[in-house]
Amino acid sequence: MSLVHEIDYGTPASKSEKLVTLTIDGMKVSVPEGTSIMRAAMEIGNQIPKLCATDMLESFGSCRLCLVEIEGRNGTPASCTTPVMDGIVVKTQTDRLKKIRKGVMELYISDHPLDCLTCSANGDCELQDMAGVVGLREVRYGYEGENHIEMGKDTSNPYFTYEKSKCIVCNRCVRACEEVQGTFALTISGRGFDSRVSPGMDEPFLTSECVSCGACVQACPTATLNEKAMFDIGTPEHSVVTTCAYCGVGCTFKAEMRGDELVRMVPYKDGKANRGHSCVKGRFAYGYATHKDRILKPMIRASIHEPWKEVSYEEAIQYAASEFKRIQEKYGRRSVGGITSSRCTNEETYLVQKLIRGAFGNNNVDTCARVCHSPTGYGLSQTYGTSAGTQDFDSVEESDVILVIGANPTDGHPVFGSRMKKRLRQGARLIVVDPRRTDIVRSPHIEADFHLPLRPGTNVAIVTALAHVIVTEGLVNEAFVRERCDWDEFQDWAAFVADERHSPEAVAKYTGVDPAQVRGAARLYATGGNAAIYYGLGVTEHSQGSTTVMAIANLAMATGNVGRNGVGVNPLRGQNNVQGSCDMGSFPHELPGYRHISDDATRAAFEAMWGVSLDDEPGLRIPNMFDAAVDGTFKGMYVQGEDILQSDPDTRHVSAGLAALECLVVQDLFLNETANYAHVFLPGCSFLEKDGTFTNAERRIQRVRKVMAPKNGYADWEVTQLLAQALGFPMDYAHPSQIMDEIAALTPTFTGVSYAKLEEMGSVQWPCNEKAPEGTPIMHIGGFVRGKGKFVLTEYVPTDERTGPRFPLLLTTGRILSQYNVGAQTRRTANVAWHPEDVLEIHAHDAENRGIRDGDFVKLESRAGSTSLKAVISDRVSPGVVYTTFHHPVTQANVVTTDYSDWATNCPEYKVTAVQISPSNGPTRWQEDYEDLSKKSRRIAEAAE
Ligand code: SF4
Ligand code: SF4
Ligand code: SF4
Ligand code: FES
Repeated sequence: MSLVHEIDYGTPASKSEKLVTLTIDGMKVSVPEGTSIMRAAMEIGNQIPKLCATDMLESFGSCRLCLVEIEGRNGTPASCTTPVMDGIVVKTQTDRLKKIRKGVMELYISDHPLDCLTCSANGDCELQDMAGVVGLREVRYGYEGENHIEMGKDTSNPYFTYEKSKCIVCNRCVRACEEVQGTFALTISGRGFDSRVSPGMDEPFLTSECVSCGACVQACPTATLNEKAMFDIGTPEHSVVTTCAYCGVGCTFKAEMRGDELVRMVPYKDGKANRGHSCVKGRFAYGYATHKDRILKPMIRASIHEPWKEVSYEEAIQYAASEFKRIQEKYGRRSVGGITSSRCTNEETYLVQKLIRGAFGNNNVDTCARVCHSPTGYGLSQTYGTSAGTQDFDSVEESDVILVIGANPTDGHPVFGSRMKKRLRQGARLIVVDPRRTDIVRSPHIEADFHLPLRPGTNVAIVTALAHVIVTEGLVNEAFVRERCDWDEFQDWAAFVADERHSPEAVAKYTGVDPAQVRGAARLYATGGNAAIYYGLGVTEHSQGSTTVMAIANLAMATGNVGRNGVGVNPLRGQNNVQGSCDMGSFPHELPGYRHISDDATRAAFEAMWGVSLDDEPGLRIPNMFDAAVDGTFKGMYVQGEDILQSDPDTRHVSAGLAALECLVVQDLFLNETANYAHVFLPGCSFLEKDGTFTNAERRIQRVRKVMAPKNGYADWEVTQLLAQALGFPMDYAHPSQIMDEIAALTPTFTGVSYAKLEEMGSVQWPCNEKAPEGTPIMHIGGFVRGKGKFVLTEYVPTDERTGPRFPLLLTTGRILSQYNVGAQTRRTANVAWHPEDVLEIHAHDAENRGIRDGDFVKLESRAGSTSLKAVISDRVSPGVVYTTFHHPVTQANVVTTDYSDWATNCPEYKVTAVQISPSNGPTRWQEDYEDLSKKSRRIAEAAE
């Protein structure tokens, strides 16, 4: 194996379709108009020396190393900033150029530490390479004069260092932070000789605005900005291209290794979701895979009050299988079930649902998508006919108006957030519908045209009010609707939304939003050109989550914003493979490909392939499993890669359900909170240790490739296969590619998908079949998948969760950039430097009324329970609204959330809880219990060692 090398063309590709022909060093080359001479030369394999240029950034022209001669012109223009022109004749390697380049390099090197042999970037440094390319062997100038050699080193960032003495002030880092990441954390401070890169107000990286995305580190051509692992482990020797296992953006990385140690994750430029960019999680927060807390041996115990006993895989699997059989014999076939993981691969998820349907003989399978995007599946399939978003991420580059509803892309989907911000800086207009002033509302060089800070729980009212304005002000795209949608249903819908009770003025009493702002936003969305909607869990995790998804779909149809680039309805999916886990048949009523279990023909195809007969009754959803467990009819559960005790609402009910089980099998990397109630623990495997595929929010299927051998001995799919075999259900796959072949054979939207295709194309977006052999970047072009687009009436029904004298505030929840969901992974990395605890954001007015000061410990209480955490006074939330994250288990945020859920899918209403806040002296009883449980788990784990 060797390092995967990606060519750096020096400047970005031009998108022009017009070709220009020129001659470079005697060779004719035709390139798109607007291409730089540097890039044109590189296209024919002629690398012009460069330092300040890289193809991830616009050209800058500061280092003067890339000079060329053009026949008939005076001077030596920089090839990175000079565009090609028809008929010009360029020379890149004359004696005069060589002499100038050597002189330039000599000046750089004369002010640079000559410690190449001991430098962490030795062999991975463009300055070193270029010195060789220009033939610089010795430097005539000594260090006697003024220089920067003794400048200090900033090591404050947990992952990379800034060694000022090595900086050549090429500006690549500053431009990467601006152009790629959009954070604008770096400047060049000082002038002339004193110029140096400076984070924030000349402060350490850690305390500056830097969000540690690593774009500057990647851009730096020297060791000035360098990963700490390069010092600790050494320069990488080989690499494997794989996909991030955190969020639904699905960034592709080169995992660069030295021996069997991972040195760094370098974002892959060919990755179609991330285009060479990353966030702090995917780029740096992979240390959890080798964390000491990982459980690498199977364990069993007869009762949850006993200590764990380490056993062989064979014993653990046999024990689990015999327990499941015993339970089914005693309590019936439907008394057991399981939960698939959106963190695992498609192939693993497919196998778990196959095991439950085939070996357990029922459909009691569900997934964590239940608690996040199940309303997306329902809402979009009702209106458009497909349970997925309509666009690819590239589409945002063609958007003129971007409407963000209930999503916080810069924290939740940071790499896509950066792409969105880039488009906004180019002039796209922005509407944000969110109770909280998220970063996207106002950030460097971006200001939303409209921010509608609605009261949590009133999404349907506000989106229907937008539709009211569009219909009553004559802004409907009638031609589109007549051609593409059911006209009768449209007319019913138009009459419904036009009713005065849906006007911005009428709904303001629930939403709290200025009607003039709603009218302005609606006009902009309908008339501003290509308009795209991006939404997140702030839409779905409500009692009317599915209704809001359909209201959004209505809005896009009414304005003709579906079926081409730059528009569409785009759910920003949470987990890395939440799209895939839904596609793979993780819901109790659907087989892979979203086909209902009651459909005889579909069932027959699976029965023929699997060699079993399938139950035609939909199984239990997650909340129903807990209800049935409490009622005593559900007794055994297999949970792969999900900490349901922490992630599901109403913790007390979940723990009561788990405690009632006679056999709980947990498969995970760590002894998580759910494992406190488990009888069998099967070690999980990290994404670095297995092969498979993930499907991101764009329906893009991407390879996950094994970077190192499984530390626990088996990939997760192999463990599921062992359990199936122990249950007497045949599974005999030698490689995940065979599982994908089976998926493709049984799923019409996947028939063209194979590992060979993924190797060839890099990735593919489903549907991928005979009609679309190369996949489908944009859905519903020319017609909706369901035929005619369906307008659905979306009556606003207030949630049953109401504020009142006892609970006068509304709590809403969300994520922060550096942490991920329940934090099982990110808390086991240096990312805790940015978010050591969850805090409660509260408006100054509400805090003052309660005698709460910034940093005080407060009690957060709802009808379901109470917890306590520190308060932060913030104007990001409006009076009456409080906000927290849920990354730290000790916060126990889900102790306060209720069991209200979406009417169609049971997705919990995490985003609206009526609460009261009061001063507190410290942790609540629940948190003390948590501490005890944690200590208990640790003691048990230690005893097992
Ligand atoms: S790590 Fe990212 S955010 Fe921080 S300075 Fe570098 S480019 Fe900017
Ligand atoms: S830190 Fe690196 S990228 Fe930034 S100016 Fe210095 S040498 Fe260039
Ligand atoms: S944006 Fe998401 S997929 Fe990309 S690196 Fe960050 S966590 Fe990973
Ligand atoms: S690479 Fe062109 S001026 Fe630096």
